[in-house]
Amino acid sequence: MRWDSELDWQKSEVKDKLVIEFGSGAGRFVDIVSRRGAKWAVGVDITGAVDAAMDNLGDRPNVIFVQADFFKLPFREGTFDNAYSIGVLHHTPDPETAFHNMTKIVNEEGLVGLSVYEISLYPRPNRNTLKVVTKDLLWTLNLWRCEFFRFFTSRMPEGLFLAYCKYFVPILHYINKVPILRYIRYLFPSTCYRTLPVEWSMLDTHDSYATKIVHQYRHKDIFQWFLKAKLFNIVVHNGRAGWVSLTGSKKEKPYQHERYVVASPGIPGT
Ligand SMILES: C[S@@+](CC[C@H](N)C(=O)[O-])C[C@H]1O[C@@H](n2cnc3c(N)ncnc32)[C@H](O)[C@@H]1O
Repeated sequence: MRWDSELDWQKSEVKDKLVIEFGSGAGRFVDIVSRRGAKWAVGVDITGAVDAAMDNLGDRPNVIFVQADFFKLPFREGTFDNAYSIGVLHHTPDPETAFHNMTKIVNEEGLVGLSVYEISLYPRPNRNTLKVVTKDLLWTLNLWRCEFFRFFTSRMPEGLFLAYCKYFVPILHYINKVPILRYIRYLFPSTCYRTLPVEWSMLDTHDSYATKIVHQYRHKDIFQWFLKAKLFNIVVHNGRAGWVSLTGSKKEKPYQHERYVVASPGIPGT
């Protein structure tokens, strides 16, 4: 589950805690925090997404959605036990300031979890070969294709691009399952999955191409943010490809080494 792969917080780190999400959207992660027994699962979002989120989860006794800008938060410093944000800050004008706001509203015992886009590089093996650099090149061309389309789609009337995602992307989604024919979809703005439901292709196409701001990071960039914020026990999660996900703690705790050692299948090409 995405929540676990990007944060890896234990049950005790959520149960009976006051937990806030920055950029909660329709509330899919607030849903998890609420079900895992948070005292309060609070979602902050600047848009009317909070209304949709209330429709989805408003009947839960431990859920609150607040329509607010996380650059001007209506909460005092140290209000929350834990704070997290997944897939949001890289779309804001000043992600590092947003991150510092997140660390400030967490109390002296709390956890801060962040997941943002990783710089898009072909996940190449260590060994250099002609085949590897050719794949690098194709990867870069695809990045160029995405940015070329985004230049136009991020300037389109919102309703028009929504209609595109709703009615045209499902066609591309199914074409993408047919061998050879599947390459047709690269002629259009599209993020399509062969093994995930059609809704994921629709949502992620919208997410990737409608957005005006996209920052991408290396793990070491975000690690520096955590250090600057004086967080301890910083863990770089072995999450999904394409994401940089870290958790840090306001207070230094005994480091649970075994929890984070990942059995590695070995690095290809070494
Ligand atoms: C890509 S969605 C992610 C939603 C959720 N984290 C998820 O993955 O389902 C990003 C959300 O962040 C919200 N957002 C962006 N900037 C914000 C800001 N300055 N303050 C509060 N919410 C913001 C957007 O309105 C949007 O709902």
